[in-house]
Amino acid sequence: MNVVNLAGDLADAVPAGATAETVTEVQHYTDDLFRFRMTRPASFRFRSGEFVMIGLMVGEKPVFRAYSIASPSWDEELEFFSIKVPDGPLTQHLQKIKVGDKVLMKKKPTGTLVNDALISGKRLYMFSTGTGFAPFASLIRDPETYEKFEEVIVTHSCRFVAELAYSQQTVAATREDPLIGELAAGQLRLFTSTTREPHEHTGRITTLIENGDLFRALGVPPLDPETDRAMICGSMAMLKDTKALLEAAGLTEGANNRPAEFVIERAFVG
Ligand code: A2P
Repeated sequence: MNVVNLAGDLADAVPAGATAETVTEVQHYTDDLFRFRMTRPASFRFRSGEFVMIGLMVGEKPVFRAYSIASPSWDEELEFFSIKVPDGPLTQHLQKIKVGDKVLMKKKPTGTLVNDALISGKRLYMFSTGTGFAPFASLIRDPETYEKFEEVIVTHSCRFVAELAYSQQTVAATREDPLIGELAAGQLRLFTSTTREPHEHTGRITTLIENGDLFRALGVPPLDPETDRAMICGSMAMLKDTKALLEAAGLTEGANNRPAEFVIERAFVG
């Protein structure tokens, strides 16, 4: 199949309810992971942590998938963090985009990984695996996150060290950011682990929660529903297992219309 109109005039081909945005930056991390930035329609509003449908014309047809927006709501552009699946209907094409190409976006953001879905607390954990870090790349750059929580701990676990590059780079840049750098420097912590090669910390995040190694490494008390809140984003299996551990610690799941102690979103594109 050929991707048509990647760089060309998409005006006639833009499906109803979508806009065609221009790619402004592409960075590849590994054979499996990349991020890109694109223009943001002036009228497009979203809450940090939400996702949208993005896509490409593949032949005559638009192919859309849900993507967490990785940039914060105040950013002039939109950023996304993506996996590359060799035969993935969208990502086999999306991984080839270049600056100046067009990407389609539907204008309705949604999602549960938003500050509004949590009740206030002392400490916010954001547990992620793989591309599940994307919504947290947005939330850690939003001042509201630091107004609501004294301490923000984002965890990113991957198979290999090279897959941690995006979270490490984003957290480092956030600490230097003129708008939120000062807040982040005092309140944001990143914990990374790998499962298939040596690193400072190794093991699945679920194992490290269960055996207490996570809390010992951070120098914080074990999970406590009085003080701790959490957001989870990863594969279905990771969500299920992490949720079970949070519930065992006494935290309850919330939603936009029913804020509580933790919320979940699956990392969509696999
Ligand atoms: P592992 O290497 O032990 O499978 P994937 O790319 O398969 O989504 O995995 C991303 C990371 O999530 C890997 O480090 C993987 O560990 C881990 N992982 C996979 N399944 C689970 C699970 N059920 N709970 C926690 N972590 C998981």
